[in-house]
Amino acid sequence: MKSLLSFALSTTLILCNTVVSSAASPKKCTPAPAPETAPDPLPLFDLVEYYYEPPSRQSPSELLSTQVSESQIRNKLALNSLALGGEDFDGLDYVFTEDAVANLSAPIGVVKGRDNIKQAIRQVLTAGEGVDGHDLISSPLIEVDPQNPCLAKSLTYFTTTFFGVSGPWQGLGQASSLSGQFRDTWVQDEAGEWRISIRILVYIGFPIGNLLPRN
Ligand SMILES: *[C@@H]1O[C@H](CO)[C@@H](O)[C@H](O)[C@H]1NC(C)=O
Repeated sequence: MKSLLSFALSTTLILCNTVVSSAASPKKCTPAPAPETAPDPLPLFDLVEYYYEPPSRQSPSELLSTQVSESQIRNKLALNSLALGGEDFDGLDYVFTEDAVANLSAPIGVVKGRDNIKQAIRQVLTAGEGVDGHDLISSPLIEVDPQNPCLAKSLTYFTTTFFGVSGPWQGLGQASSLSGQFRDTWVQDEAGEWRISIRILVYIGFPIGNLLPRN
C-alpha cells in the first residue's frame, strides 16, 4: 500500500515537473513600447463586460503558464503597496516599465516615464509632515491575454489611508483616506518579468477624514 502510494506520488511529481519545465520556457516576449498617453478610462458600468473572460480553451501547459504569470502580477501589485508604504519609490522600478504612462487623475493627470511617475507619487505621499500612508489593495482581477501570453490587464481597488503620527499630528488620532481603482496594462519582458506599461488611476468618491494630504 505504502509503495503504491509513493509510486503514485512520484509519478505525479514527474508529471508536474514535465508540465512545469515546458511552461517555464515559453516563447520570449518582446514588449511593445508604451503609448504616449493613457486611453480614456472606461465608465464603471462597462467594466464587467470589459473584464469578463469565458472559460479558457488553453492546453494544460498554457494554463499553467497563465497562472504563473497571474501570480507574478499579483506579487508585483503587492510590491507596489510595499514601495508606497515604505516610501521606497525606487522599488517601483520592479513595478513599472521605463517608458510607462500613467493617468494619475486630477490634480496630477497624465505622467509619462517611470521616473516622472515615481516623482509624482512621491510628491503626493510625502506632502504631509508627520503623516504615514498605508496602501491597501483588494479585489484583484488579473487576466493574461488568451491570444497573447506576453500581455495582461488587471484591476484592483485601492484604499490609501493617511495616519497623522507625529509632528503637528502627534496624539490627535486623525486620519484620512482615498479610494479608487488601479486599472493596469502589463507587459512581459524578454527575461519573463512583468511590469505595468499603462496605469489608469480612477478615484471613487472624494477624500474623507480629518487629515487631508496638503500640497
Ligand atoms: C484621466 O483620468 C481622469 C479621471 O479618471 C479622466 O477624467 C481623464 O479624462 C483622463 N485623461 C486622459 C487623457 O485619459
